Amino acid sequence: MDLSRRQFLTTSALVTGAVGLGLRPSHPLRILILGGTGFLGPHLVRFALYRGHHVTIFNRGRTEPTMFTNLFSQVEKRVGDRADDLASLASGEWDVVIDNSGRDADWTAASAQLLKGRVGRYMYTSSTGVYYPYFGDDITEETPVLTEVMENDDGSSAYGVMKVLSERAAQAAFGSDRTVVVRPTYIVGPGDRSNRFEYWPARIQKGGEILVPGNADDPIQYIDVRDLTEFMIRLLENEASGTLNCVGPESRLGMHAFVHGVHAITSAAVHWVPIPDHDFLIEHGVPYAVPWIMPAGNEVGSARINFQHALGEGLTYRPLATTAADTLEWWYSDAVTPERRARLEEGLMAREAGIIAAWRERL
Ligand SMILES: NC(=O)c1ccc[n+]([C@@H]2O[C@H](COP(=O)([O-])OP(=O)(O)OC[C@H]3O[C@@H](n4cnc5c(N)ncnc54)[C@H](OP(=O)(O)O)[C@@H]3O)[C@@H](O)[C@H]2O)c1
Repeated sequence: MDLSRRQFLTTSALVTGAVGLGLRPSHPLRILILGGTGFLGPHLVRFALYRGHHVTIFNRGRTEPTMFTNLFSQVEKRVGDRADDLASLASGEWDVVIDNSGRDADWTAASAQLLKGRVGRYMYTSSTGVYYPYFGDDITEETPVLTEVMENDDGSSAYGVMKVLSERAAQAAFGSDRTVVVRPTYIVGPGDRSNRFEYWPARIQKGGEILVPGNADDPIQYIDVRDLTEFMIRLLENEASGTLNCVGPESRLGMHAFVHGVHAITSAAVHWVPIPDHDFLIEHGVPYAVPWIMPAGNEVGSARINFQHALGEGLTYRPLATTAADTLEWWYSDAVTPERRARLEEGLMAREAGIIAAWRERL
């Protein structure tokens, strides 16, 4: 194991240890995770084991975890396919199931029906994407959601509708008192497979002229994967039910404050180049730079989701600097391939100087 990887694991263990302080639950849970080896899965596995729970994962055996790989020897594995092979789940009892790999409402209906007599509680990992396209200014869990795909859909409403129908399939099988639905916004942090948030720490630590899209106070929301997964396990320990928007940070954050916050983790000399002109950004292929989402069209309000309910249930937040520093450390560890790092640099980073030059010409 190289130094960066070892340092990353040590830092991560310290961070988890800090937030995990407190009494372990007196009754270890038997937790079944549908999925378990992608992004959220390894973090769930680590925190669940840390809390003394027993973990079973169900997946096709194709996706190899890239984090906390040493912990997977402590996990029971069931192999199958949510699309057409649930045979390995035909026996067994669990206190809770976490449905992470739900990409089809029929999959959730089938697993919830199969498990309802042998599992106490169903947790469905949904998304704030359910509120598309009616984000508005103060979206709560009671805000109405689409249940049918919009005409001329570009994929945005189909995802939200699939999540809504999946939530309902879980509730139909388990009843609303035995179902808990978490609706996270953009999930970020070590282990992310999306090449989105990691752009910012990776870009800012390189220094130089940095394109900052949008207005200073364009709202930013995201959730650190550790904050989310630790909250999910605590909800299950507390026998929670209902629906919770899982969104951070706790304070309102604008785009400029966000980049300054990420800059706090490096000593790189930077020169910010704010480009607030939405038309120009679209023309130059920058419709978003997650967690910045252009607050225009159907996305207005997508980063103004209300999370008071989750706060009341105990959602806590790492500082932005911790999320950014841990993400950067992971990004340069051997958990990420050089090819993947190169791909990130081929995107906006490669085009940035040209876009800045075009912006200056226009002024
Ligand atoms: N990333 C975000 O910003 C974001 C935001 C909001 C909500 N979400 C939601 O959060 C969840 C993310 O989950 P994750 O990927 O991090 O979860 P995960 O549990 O870490 O990984 C996904 C798992 O699904 C398994 N899987 C995929 N297709 C399968 C199939 N047909 N049958 C059985 N298992 C299958 C994969 O293993 P195999 O390939 O080996 O089968 C893998 O273990 C998703 O529901 C997503 O919609 C994500």
